[in-house]
This record gives sequence, C-alpha cells and structure tokens, in this order.
Amino acid sequence: MTGNELREAYLQFFAEKKDHLRLSSYSLVPDNDPTLLLIGAGMAPLKPFFTGKMKPPRNRIVTCQRCVRTGDIENVGRTARHQTFFEMLGNFSFGDYFKQEAIPWAWEFLTEVVELPKDKLWVSIYPEDDEAREIWLKETDVNPDHIVALEDNFWEIGPGPCGPDSEIYIDLGEERGCGEPTCGIGCDCDRFLEIWNLVFTQYDRTEEGEYNLLAHKNIDTGCGLERLASVVQNKKTNFETDLLYPIIEYASKISNVTYGSDPKKDISLKVIADHARSVAIMIMDDILPANEGRGYVLRRTLRRAIRHGRMLGITKPFLDGAVDAVVEIFRNAKDFSEILAKQDYIKRVIRVEEDRFASTLAQGIELLNEEVARLKDAHETVLHGEVGFKLYDTYGFPRELTEEILHENGITLDGECFHQEMEKQRTRARSARAENQAVSVPDLSGVDTGSLTEDADAVKATVVAIWRDGGLVDALHDGESAGVILSTTPFHPEGGGQVGDEGILRSELGYLSVSNTKRLPDGTIYHVAYVEEGQIQRGDAVDVCLDAKKKLSSARNHTATHLLQAALRRVVGEHVQQAGSLVTPERLRFDFTNFEPVTEQQLRDVEELVNEEILRSSELHISMMPIDEAKALGAMALFGEKYGDVVRVVNVPDFSIELCGGSHVSNTGQIGLFKIVSESGVAAGVRRIEAITGRAAFAYAAEMSRMVQELSRKLKTRSEDLVSQMDKFMDERKSMQEQLRNFATFRDQADAQKLLMGVQTIGDFHVVVGKANVDSMDELRKIADLTCEKLETGIVVLGAIIEDKVSLVVKADKAAVQMGAHAGNIIKEAAKAVGGGGGGRPDMAQAGGKIPAQLPQAFEAAVAVIRRQISA
Ligand code: ALA
Repeated sequence: MTGNELREAYLQFFAEKKDHLRLSSYSLVPDNDPTLLLIGAGMAPLKPFFTGKMKPPRNRIVTCQRCVRTGDIENVGRTARHQTFFEMLGNFSFGDYFKQEAIPWAWEFLTEVVELPKDKLWVSIYPEDDEAREIWLKETDVNPDHIVALEDNFWEIGPGPCGPDSEIYIDLGEERGCGEPTCGIGCDCDRFLEIWNLVFTQYDRTEEGEYNLLAHKNIDTGCGLERLASVVQNKKTNFETDLLYPIIEYASKISNVTYGSDPKKDISLKVIADHARSVAIMIMDDILPANEGRGYVLRRTLRRAIRHGRMLGITKPFLDGAVDAVVEIFRNAKDFSEILAKQDYIKRVIRVEEDRFASTLAQGIELLNEEVARLKDAHETVLHGEVGFKLYDTYGFPRELTEEILHENGITLDGECFHQEMEKQRTRARSARAENQAVSVPDLSGVDTGSLTEDADAVKATVVAIWRDGGLVDALHDGESAGVILSTTPFHPEGGGQVGDEGILRSELGYLSVSNTKRLPDGTIYHVAYVEEGQIQRGDAVDVCLDAKKKLSSARNHTATHLLQAALRRVVGEHVQQAGSLVTPERLRFDFTNFEPVTEQQLRDVEELVNEEILRSSELHISMMPIDEAKALGAMALFGEKYGDVVRVVNVPDFSIELCGGSHVSNTGQIGLFKIVSESGVAAGVRRIEAITGRAAFAYAAEMSRMVQELSRKLKTRSEDLVSQMDKFMDERKSMQEQLRNFATFRDQADAQKLLMGVQTIGDFHVVVGKANVDSMDELRKIADLTCEKLETGIVVLGAIIEDKVSLVVKADKAAVQMGAHAGNIIKEAAKAVGGGGGGRPDMAQAGGKIPAQLPQAFEAAVAVIRRQISA
C-alpha cells in the first residue's frame, strides 16, 4: 500500500465501517488555543469536544491530522522514526464508545485491513488498567504473552484532556535491536516500533497540574502514518517510504551524494526530507518566517535544512526545488489539496528566506573571523558564549557551524554561557507567548447552543450566556465588558476577512454597545459587548439594534472585494490567489500573490472592470450547496472547510463565484463607486490593494476635485492645463538652479582673483593667505584650487568662518612641494591657533577650529611655518 492508500484505508474503515464523521485535517495553526504554538496531535484541535465545552458535530470523528512537533528536532535524521512534520491518523469518541470498541477496532484494522502479522504485534497497558487487559485478552487474539504493563502509559500534551493509554508495537526483529538484555517494549532502540496509541481520555489536566475527571469518557487514538507506512512497505526507516523518499532523491541528485553511502550524509538527506515537508506545509497553512512564535519554528526549521544542504556541499539555493517533490507526494491526498494551489507561493517564500539566510550567513562569517583573529592575537582559546549566541540569534548561525569554524582555528565555544543565553531567550519567548494569549474558550456545557439562531431581521432576543476571563457570569454592570451570547442574532460575525458587525443591545435595565461580533470554534456567535449604562443579566430580554449603515458599508466593501479578485485574475493573471483580506465599513484591503507590482495601467483596467460590474447592477445569488457542486460551478475554493459538506456560495453572475460566509449587497449597483487608493508590497510575493466604495469613494473623488480646483487657483491656470503648467514650472526651476550654480562659480572665481592680488613672495614660494566668504568646505576647497592654479610654485592658505566655526584649507602645487612645502605641516600649526587640529598630505590639507576670532593668528602661524620650510 502507498502512503496515500493507507491514509485513505484508515479514514474509510472508520467512516464507513464504524460510523465516524470524517473531517479533513485542521490547519497547523491552533484556533483559540493559547496553550499551543502548533498542532502536534490529532486530538489537539478537538480539545473542546473532549472537555464538553463544545458540542462536536458528531460524537464519533475520524481524521488524518497534519502535525508538527519540534521538541525532538535534534533527533531527526538520527533515528528511523523521528520527524518534525508527520500525519496522525486518529479515531475519536466523545462520550460515545470506549475501550470495549476501540481496542478490537484497532486490532481489526491492523491485522485485517493492513494485514500485519499477529505474532509480531505487542501491546502495552497502564499497570492498573485491568479492564484494558481483559478486553485485549477476550476481544482480540493477541498473544497473551505479548501484553506488558508499563508505568509511563499515560498520555498528555500540556494542559487539557488526557488519560491512561494502551499502545500497540510491532517487533521488527532482533537484528534491529540494541541487543541489551533489558531490550523490550519501551526500549529506545529501533526493534519495537510503537504504531498505535489508544488513549482512554478521562481527565482534564488544569494549568496547575490537577487532574479533574471529565463528565464523560472518551477515546483518542493516534497512529503515525509514516511509521505505519514504513512497516507496510517494509522499509527500515520512515524516510524510505513513498511519503518522504522522493525528497531524498531530489536532495541526493542536487548534491551528488548517494543515499546509503555515508551515514553522516544520510542524516543530512533525511533532515532535508523531513524539514522540506514541515516548511512547505507550515507555509501552506499561512505561517511566514519570523523571529518569534510559529514563524520562528518555521525559520529555524528552514535554516536547519539549508545548513544540512551545505554540509552535503550544496552551495546554491535548493530548498524551494524540494517543494515540487513535496507536492508530488501529496498530489492525490484530499487533505492537502491546498498545496497544489499554493505551490508557487510556497516556493517563493522559501526562496526569499533562503537568499536572505545566505547573506546573513556571510555577515556572520565576517564577525566570526574578526573574533577569531582577536582571540588569536590575545592568545586566547575560548569564544565567549554571548558572541556565539549573537551569531546564532542575530545571524542565524547554527551553533554547530560556529563550533566547526572555531575548531579549525583551535578555539572552542563557551558552551555553558551559550546555553545560559539560550535559556534567557527561551524565557523571553515564553513570556511573550503568555502575553499574546488568545481568548480562552468559555465553558458552554450548560448552554443549549443548538437552539441559537442567526436571523438577519431579528430585533428581539434573550441573553443566553455572558462570560468574562474564560468563565460564565450571571450579570454585567456598567463599565464592564464581556462576551454575550443571544438566543438569536442579526449580527454577522467576523470571518473571511470581514470585521464583525457593530451595534447596540438595550434591555430594561441596561444599555450595551457591541464593538465586534465573533464566532467560537464550534460556530456559536458571540458579541463583544460593553455596558455603557445600567446592568444586564442572563435571561434578560434585549432589543437588538444593528448599525445598519455600517453593515451596508461593510457589505459594499465585501462584494467589491470579490469583484476586485475576479478583475485581478482577468487583468493580472489566473495565478492571483487571495493571501489575506480585511473588510471594514471604511475600506477594503486585499492581499494577493503576485511577484511584481501591479502596473498603473493594470490598476486602471481593474478599476474600470469593477466599476463596469457595478454599473451593470447584477443581482447577487447567494445559496447553500454541497462543496462538490460549488466547485463544479467554478467557485474559488476557500481552504479549511471543516464541516465540509454544505457551503455558502456567493455568485455575481458571469463575473465572480466564491465560497464565502460574509455579508454582501443584494445588487452590485449598491456599491455605487469603486476606487483603488493604494497598491503596495507586504511580503515577498504578496501585493496589497486598498480600495474604497460607496460614500467613501464619493468623498474621495470630491476631495480630489477640490484639491485640483485649489491648485488651479494657485497656479492661475485651468484645471485641464494643470499638468502642462506644472511641467513649465519644473523646467523653470531647473534652469534657475542652473543659473544659481553658475553664479556661485563666478563668485568663486572673483574671490580667487581678489586673493591673487594679495600674493606675496616668501623665498621662492608665491603665497596667498586670506579669508574667503563661503558657506561650505567644498567651496573653500574650490577657491583654493582656482587660486593655486594661477600661481607658480604656489602655496594657498585659506580660512573661512562657517556656522561659527573655522575651516582651513592649505594647498601647495607640485613645484612648491618639490621645494620643501608641506601643506599638512602648515595646517597643523595654523589649526592650533584657532583651537583645532588637523593635518594632511604635502599638497593638500584641511582642518577645523573653534575660535573664529583668532583666524589672523592662524594665518600668521601658517606664514611662519612656510618661512621655516624655505630654509629647510
Ligand atoms: N493523542 C495521542 C498521541 O498523540 C493519541 O499519541
């Protein structure tokens, strides 16, 4: 079976034979879970369903969840099974089936569908879990001698749902083992491979480390797809399966290194294979390289891959090329359809980061070389850990690389200090993360969320729940803000780039303003409300008053965003993909993939096309339909559809068709007018257009026209002649500047002439000494040059007072220098007289001083030196 076939077989087995709802993988970016940076287990996105905070769409779910775990990143490539990116197959029960079903189903899948040899399978259980042991013995035909109790059979991932577990292992044969007498299940060597974990989720661990019994018992399972594939495909490591090997082949080709020829190089090939998948999928899930949080995980992984590329001798950018291999691996996997659409984008993001890393690497090398030279001069042999850490942190220099270069020079790194710096950095990162906490999900177990409705026309509702700081409260008083859930609401929640609706809630005793509307992970709408006056209680009846004007403005901007995207695809190209969008009542912002700025002509064409659609006054058709039908109609897919079946399709006939949950106008004519106000770049390969519609566009046009009128008045011309008039002014300005420059030159020449009249002969030298009226050192030098040209065996000493300070220039021609003149020595004495210092070459020197009143003394000092220089 190929990896894709295995994934599909598992999902179908549980969906079709065991009645599970099949959901597609959630994004790697956790939704509303501040305890997690990245999704690292199949159960992670489903936590609220385990705790009962949310009602799941069905109480049996099956997924193949994409995961990233970087805790063991150092081990990747060194063992057969460590990876940062992996897929976890999982079947889940939320208060439905338990051990009695979960155990035999796992056994059935492994032994009947995948047909693993029963005599090679082993099972571990939690020591006190007699129930699990009984079920294994009674409901399966596992060899009773192959059941082992292990103390650490308890699964948890930070705070949240957890419980005792039972694991299934396969014995890969003695020859794969460490040979130790203690070798057995749970040994770290490669002999016994864990392929399945059944977690009997019964507890909820609090942040404080308490284990609270959950209201119902659950099942959480995890089966690593790549591990299972390695067993089924009879490969020694995960890396040789069809889920990773194509990337090894690619890296091997680029580096000219044969896989299997050198264990050290194999590590690098495997690291590249693993990291290329991690990086590509993280970018697919909209993570971008950054210096903190998820973006840092991405950056670090990417750089680690590049470093291993260098260790293989690859000096050119190569990681972007690996993306093609990743795409081929996932081409037929439904859960990864997005990677196809984003292939070019992912490559460009990687390429930019790769180029950037190459240049920081070069800067780092320079710094390191300087440090090495300094240490050698001082006969020291240890590089300070802080420097090592700076190389790591600022220049992205992996520690091993620093150590390698130091080693070549007989120097070591102060590892202890490096480690301390690293710890400090980690603490900083942790506290930054704590500050950045998202809203924690309230416990809605007592609320019948199924009865809540959305109704655009609703004007009356009941307060169903109020929560603050993660907990439900009964009442809110003036000056307090909280999340409020209503029995029915006309407010549209934030999402798909559109901001949530604003408005007012009024009860008998209170008056609340709603500044935003959002959706909880299970779909429940809540209002971000602030009590302006009085108080409000759970159960109160409220009048709901939506800010209709703002809502319509948002709707105009949202529909215009769809028109804009369609127009961009027509004018700029089919490759244009949405990369982000913001719709507010004031304006719209649309980010999209494109590697060049959109030209002015294209912007004009796009604007015209959108306005044509507005003038056409098309009725919008908004309807719900199965996703496949929507795609067949050509709807632009919106990724991350989870409850995938039925989607909302927004159709502007013959122009744009998109999946979208936002609010829209009913007829494009309502948009009124569309005006682009800016086009800019936001990230590598991502452009941003900001635009306005309706009243804002009209106000903009009116303001522009007022400005044109004012300019016409000031420039005393008709508005249609403004541009030519402006050109005329610019030309005039240019020629005036030219005249000024000529004038300055005349003045310099005249000054030089004047100075020449005071020429004195000292020995064989012809010397000019004097003050010039200039504004800059530059001009002073020019006059000195002009004067000196006119002299034979000449020395020119000029001084000027510029902004209350003295500037001095001394110039000596060739003949004078040959006869002993030295401008540098002359200026040294002269500068001293005005409280400054300076020196220079024999033919030219300049200096500054602080005491303008002593300029005459400076000249005297200069002449004295010149006299000495004749006698010399
Ligand atoms: N959540 C369990 C694991 O990740 C199944 O191993």
